[in-house]
Amino acid sequence: MSGRPISRRRAMGVAAAGAASVAGGTAGWLWSANSAGGGFRPAATAAPLREPRVLSSRGGRLQVELAAAAGVALAGRDTEALGYNGSSPGPTLRVRPGDDLAVRLINGLAEPTNLHTHGLRVSPQGNGDNPFLRIEPGTSFDYLFRIPRDHPTGTFWYHPHRHGLVADQVFGGLGGALLVDDGPDLPVEQDRVLLVTDTTMTVDGVVARPDRMERMQGREGELVLVNGQHQPTLGAAPGTAQRWRVINGCASRVLALRLAGHELDLVARDGAFLPAPESQQRVVLPPGSRADVLVRPTTPGRFPLLSEPVDRGGMGMGGMGGGVRSERVLLATLMAGGPEAKPAPLPPALPAEQPRATTDGKRREVAFTMGMGTAGMSLGIDGRAFDPDRTDQLVRFGTVEEWTVVNTTPMTHPFHLHVWPFVVLATSDNAPLSGTPQDVVLVPPQGWVRLRIPFTAYPGRSVFHCHILDHEDAGMMATIQVR
Ligand code: C2O
Ligand code: CU
Ligand code: CU
Repeated sequence: MSGRPISRRRAMGVAAAGAASVAGGTAGWLWSANSAGGGFRPAATAAPLREPRVLSSRGGRLQVELAAAAGVALAGRDTEALGYNGSSPGPTLRVRPGDDLAVRLINGLAEPTNLHTHGLRVSPQGNGDNPFLRIEPGTSFDYLFRIPRDHPTGTFWYHPHRHGLVADQVFGGLGGALLVDDGPDLPVEQDRVLLVTDTTMTVDGVVARPDRMERMQGREGELVLVNGQHQPTLGAAPGTAQRWRVINGCASRVLALRLAGHELDLVARDGAFLPAPESQQRVVLPPGSRADVLVRPTTPGRFPLLSEPVDRGGMGMGGMGGGVRSERVLLATLMAGGPEAKPAPLPPALPAEQPRATTDGKRREVAFTMGMGTAGMSLGIDGRAFDPDRTDQLVRFGTVEEWTVVNTTPMTHPFHLHVWPFVVLATSDNAPLSGTPQDVVLVPPQGWVRLRIPFTAYPGRSVFHCHILDHEDAGMMATIQVR
C-alpha cells in the first residue's frame, strides 16, 4: 500500500488533539485546519458567516441562469474549485409553492453535468428533475421545475447528478440551497442557510483527486466549509432565536451537529416540519439531508458548532480495510453578545403535514450489496451496478408502498429516493423516528430500514441510490418507474 493510510492516521491524531483543547476549555476553539493532510490549510479568520446571493421568485416564477465552471473563491482564496455563477455554493434559489422554477444550466465544465433538485416533489420527466439528462460541455439546457401548490415549505438543495461524475463535481464545489418559502413561518430574528461542504485542495488551490481506497470508503475532504467559508462566526443576541437551515452538501461525510452550551431545537428534517420542536443534544445529518434547527442563546460567549465523530462502519476484508469514520470537526462558532436574557420562547406547534398512515400497494425489498469481482470490489443494488436503460422497480402510480431497504455490507449507506419522500417506520438499530416525510435515511451495516412511500404525486422514471456519492458513481444506484 502507499503512504496514504499513514497520513490518515496522523490526521486522526491531530483531530484528537484539537478535541482535547476544546474539552479543556482553552481558547483553542479556532483550529487552523480540520486535519493534517499536507494540502491547503486556511488561516482562522473568524469572519462572519456570509450567505450566498438569494434569487427569489416574483409573480409565480423564478428564471435564472446557473453557469457551472471552475474558478471560485473558497475559504478566503482564489481556487480552481467549481461553482455556479462564480461562487461555491451557488446562489440560494427561493421559490413559493405553486411557482415555476426555470433554470438555464450552462455547462462551462470540461465534462458533462446536469442538475437535480434534491428533495423537491416535482416531476422527474422531460426537462423536469430528470437525472438521466446529460448536458455536454459548452452547451446549455433549459430546465423547468413546476412546484406544486401543496408543496411543503422547507429547505432543499440542488446539485449535479451526472452518473459517474457526481462525487467529483460536488466535492469540487457544485451545489446550492433551494428554499420553498411562503413567507415567515417561524418567529425568529434571523433565518440563515448553512450549506456544509468538504473538499481537499493542494496549496495551489487545485481540488485533490481521491485514490481507490478513498472512493471505496466515500471520500471526505480535509477542509470542511460552511457557505464556502472556513470556520466562520455567527453573531446572535441572548434572548433571541435564529433558524439555521443546515444542509449536508458533503460527498460522503456524515455530520453529527452539536452546539456547545446549547440544545438544538429541531424543527424540520429534509424540508418537512416536525409536529413540534424537539430539543436535541446532537443532530445526525447524513449526506444530502437537511436539518432546520432553532438556536436560542441566553448568555454571552463563544460556542463552537461541532460535527462529532460518526462511525460509518468498515470495509470488511477481515479488518484490512479498517473502520470508516467521519472525524470530529469545527464547523463554525456562535458568538453571542449582549446582556444575559431568558431564552426566546419556542413555538408550541409546527405546520407539519399528516403523512399517509396505511399501505395499499406492494411491499418490496431492495438491498445495498457489495461483491468481489475480478476488477476488485463492486458496489451495487441487488447485486447489480446501475444501468440507466434497465428498469429495476416498477411501481403502480397512486399506491402507497412499504419498502425494506437491506444493507448486506459492513459499511453504512444513506438511502435516498428522488421525487417521492418516505416515512421511516422502523430501523434495525432503533434510531429515533421523526414520523414525518424525509428523503435520506442511514441504513446501518448488516441492517435494514422499513419505509412507507406514497407514489401518489407524480408518475415518471427516476432513481434511488446511496448518497455517498462515490458509491452512487460506482453503481450503487437503481432506476424506478412509476406509472
Ligand atoms: Cu442528492 Cu440523487 O441526489
Ligand atoms: Cu436527490
Ligand atoms: Cu454507500
